[in-house]
Amino acid sequence: MSLNKTKVIETLKGVIYFAKGDNIVDLGMLDELEVAENAIRFRLIFPRIDEPAVNIVSNAATKALREAFGEETTIKITPITEKEKGRGPLAGVRHIIAVASGKGGVGKSTVAANLAIALSRTGSQVGLVDADIYGPSVPMMFGIVDEAPGMTEREGKPLIVPIEKFGIKLLSIGFFVDTNKPLVWRGPMATSALNQLLSDADWGILDYLIIDLPPGTGDIQLTLAQSYSVTGAVVVTTPQKVAFADVRRAATMFQQDKLTIPLLGLIENMAYFTPTDMPDKKYYIFGKGHGEGFANAIGIPLIGQIPIVEQISASGDAGSPIALDEESPVAIAFMEVAYKVKELVKNLSK
Ligand SMILES: Nc1ncnc2c1ncn2[C@@H]1O[C@H](COP(=O)(O)OP(=O)(O)OP(=O)(O)O)[C@@H](O)[C@H]1O
Ligand SMILES: [Mg+2]
Repeated sequence: MSLNKTKVIETLKGVIYFAKGDNIVDLGMLDELEVAENAIRFRLIFPRIDEPAVNIVSNAATKALREAFGEETTIKITPITEKEKGRGPLAGVRHIIAVASGKGGVGKSTVAANLAIALSRTGSQVGLVDADIYGPSVPMMFGIVDEAPGMTEREGKPLIVPIEKFGIKLLSIGFFVDTNKPLVWRGPMATSALNQLLSDADWGILDYLIIDLPPGTGDIQLTLAQSYSVTGAVVVTTPQKVAFADVRRAATMFQQDKLTIPLLGLIENMAYFTPTDMPDKKYYIFGKGHGEGFANAIGIPLIGQIPIVEQISASGDAGSPIALDEESPVAIAFMEVAYKVKELVKNLSK
């Protein structure tokens, strides 16, 4: 076959990027295609550069082109990220921070919501994605259960408009499904739901996009790690000794080969009890120093300790996260966490 651009594009339409379920041309991954006598060069735009798909897709493209135009053809493929290209709905998002835990009910959503508020109070632009398809809680915690996100259009593509509350841009899988119904979503559906929340929404310019993950390790975590450029993960735990195995599992999940998301550190939730009428008292009812012990054992920083305070639950139910209440000791604890997270993120990029 003689070499020309149209034929090259036609050939590349046979190369599938499985993470998005379509061919690389129709997905708009092909960039700056140059065709000369016996030589083809182009860039391929990927969500992130260290995903295994970069090699798989590049090799498949090379093979297809050689088969079509002959083994002698010189082929040069340069993979670049959507960010480098300055495009994709997440192009304006500087840092994605995942909030994870080994098991459920340790306070992940509480931490994610209050960290979002605290970061925003430091002057940052913040978004929050509730990616917990099994038990979305952001709508409840922000009092927007009855609201629905709007839609807009950019370059012919429909985009979801996040709901804004307390200065935070919010989206939850809870907006798209009936939360009263049990969700038995299998991998592909969970994955497509996450892609919608991240890639099909108009996030605009954000310093931080916080992601409240479901507990444990599953398709959501895998998709996030493979297809998005996550700055770092924060692991939430409680001080009970039995929690350590869960912390370790959560930590190793992000350290798997090729899926590495840097671990920013550990947050020890429910670290001690502080009675409402005695805000200076700290009762270490599950023992003292466990969070620090866990963090040291895994080799990550202990970002902060959040007390058990009745008000946390009540404020979560009332749709107004406690970090908004500047006076409360918990808000102060979350402000410290926010400053620490900022510092850790800054150190990562050094
Ligand atoms: N420090 C705290 N003090 C008091 N109550 C808390 C604290 N942290 C969380 N809670 C309460 O514990 C419950 C579980 O918290 P949360 O929903 O944040 O956990 P989770 O890890 O997101 O759970 P799930 O795995 O179900 O998503 C909630 O009712 C919340 O209000
Ligand atoms: Mg939760």
